Amino acid sequence: MWLPFHTVCLGSLTVSRRSVAAALLKCSKHRENVSLFSHSAAAQTCKALQFRNHGDPSKVVQLEDVDLPPIGENDVLVKMLAAPINPADINMIQGTYAILPDLPAVGGNEGVAQVVEVGRNVTSLKTGDWVIHKDAGLGTWRTEAVLAEGDVISLPNDIPLLSAATLGVNPCTAFRMLSDFEELKPGDSVIQNAANSGVGQAVIQIAAARGINTINVVRDRPEFTQLSDRLKAIGGTHVIKEEALRRPEMRELFKTCPKPKLALNGVGGQSATELLRHLQFGGSMVTYGGMAKKPVTVPVSALIFKDVKVRGFWVTQWKRDHSSDGRAFKAMLDELCQLIRQGKLTAPACTEVSLQDFNKALDAAMQPFTSAKQVFIM
Ligand SMILES: NC(=O)c1ccc[n+]([C@@H]2O[C@H](COP(=O)([O-])OP(=O)(O)OC[C@H]3O[C@@H](n4cnc5c(N)ncnc54)[C@H](OP(=O)(O)O)[C@@H]3O)[C@@H](O)[C@H]2O)c1
Repeated sequence: MWLPFHTVCLGSLTVSRRSVAAALLKCSKHRENVSLFSHSAAAQTCKALQFRNHGDPSKVVQLEDVDLPPIGENDVLVKMLAAPINPADINMIQGTYAILPDLPAVGGNEGVAQVVEVGRNVTSLKTGDWVIHKDAGLGTWRTEAVLAEGDVISLPNDIPLLSAATLGVNPCTAFRMLSDFEELKPGDSVIQNAANSGVGQAVIQIAAARGINTINVVRDRPEFTQLSDRLKAIGGTHVIKEEALRRPEMRELFKTCPKPKLALNGVGGQSATELLRHLQFGGSMVTYGGMAKKPVTVPVSALIFKDVKVRGFWVTQWKRDHSSDGRAFKAMLDELCQLIRQGKLTAPACTEVSLQDFNKALDAAMQPFTSAKQVFIM
C-alpha cells in the first residue's frame, strides 16, 4: 500500500532517530555505491516527479515538493537511490497502461532505495538495508518515501547500484519467461525480438548462464554491427535483423542451431508473426510487450500444423499471485543476484541523470534505436 500524502508534524523523537539513521548510513560500508544521504532531520517533504493529468510526459510531469506522511509502526522511511525510466512508466503517464494510479501520482515503477528509519514493529528490515518495491504503481521517481514494510523486499547491497535499480522488472520478466513456459535444457534455443531491450538483454544473459542458445532479432540501424557485437559479448548466440527472419539464410542458421522451443515477443505486429514461423512443433510464443502497438496475427498454419501455444506474461501479475508467500520472489532475486555477482548478469547500458534533468531524460527514454536506459540517480 502507498501511504497517502498529507502534511505532517514530526515529533522530536522521530527527528533525532532520523539523525542517527543519517549518521549510520554515512558509516555504511557500501557508501561508495550510494549518493550521499542528504535527508534533512527537519524535512517533511521530498522531491518527486509528479503528474496531475495524463498526457505527453514532457508536458505533464513536474518536479515538485511532496509531503511525506509520518512513519507508522509498520512503515519504513527510505531514501531512493536510483530508478529507471521504463516504457510502462511512460505509458502510465500517458494514461494507456493497464493499471493507473490515482492522480496526482509520482512516476516510476521500479528502483532501489535504502532504509533510513524503521517503525517500531518492523522486523524484516533495518537501517541501511537496500530494498525494491514489490508492486507497480508506487511511484519511485522521488528522493524519499514512507512505505509499508510489506510493500518492499530487501536486496543484498553487494551488487552494483544500476543492477539493483533495474532488477525488479526486466530481469524478473526474463527469468520467469525462461522458466515457466517451456522446459528448456542446455542446447535448446529461444528466439526473441527487441533483443536489445532491457528484457532482451536479461533474456540473453540468463539463457546463456543456463546453456540455452538465443536467436536475437533487432531492428536494422546504421550501428547494427556494434549492437550485434555487444549482444554477442553478453552471451547472445545469433543476432539478426528483422528482415532476415523472412530470408532463406534462416535455413543456414538452423543447420547449426535447433529450432526454438520458445519465442519471446516484446513487439507485436509482423515481427511476432515472423517469430512464430520459426518455432518448433508445439512450441510457445510468449508476448510480454507491444512496442510496435500492432496486434499479433497468428498464421492458421502455425496453429494447425505446428500446434503452437500463444501465451502472455505480466510480471506484475506474477508478483501479485505470489505475494502471500514471498519465497518464490525471494528465491528468484537470490538467483539473479548470484548471477550478477558471478558477472553473468549485468545491467543494461544506462545513462545516469538527475531528477532535475527529467525533461531531457523523459525525451531520451522515448527515442527509438538508443539501446540504453535512462536511470535517475537521486
Ligand atoms: N509483461 C511484462 O511483465 C513486462 C515486463 C517488463 C517489460 N515489459 C515490456 O517489454 C517491452 C520492453 O521493455 P524494456 O524496458 O525492456 O524496454 P527498453 O529497454 O526501453 O527497450 C525498448 C525496446 O523496444 C524496441 N522498440 C521501440 N519501439 C519499437 C517499435 N516501434 N517496433 C519495434 N521495436 C521497438 C526498441 O528497439 P530499437 O532499439 O529498435 O528502438 C528496444 O528494443 C515494453 O513494451 C515493456 O512495457 C513487459
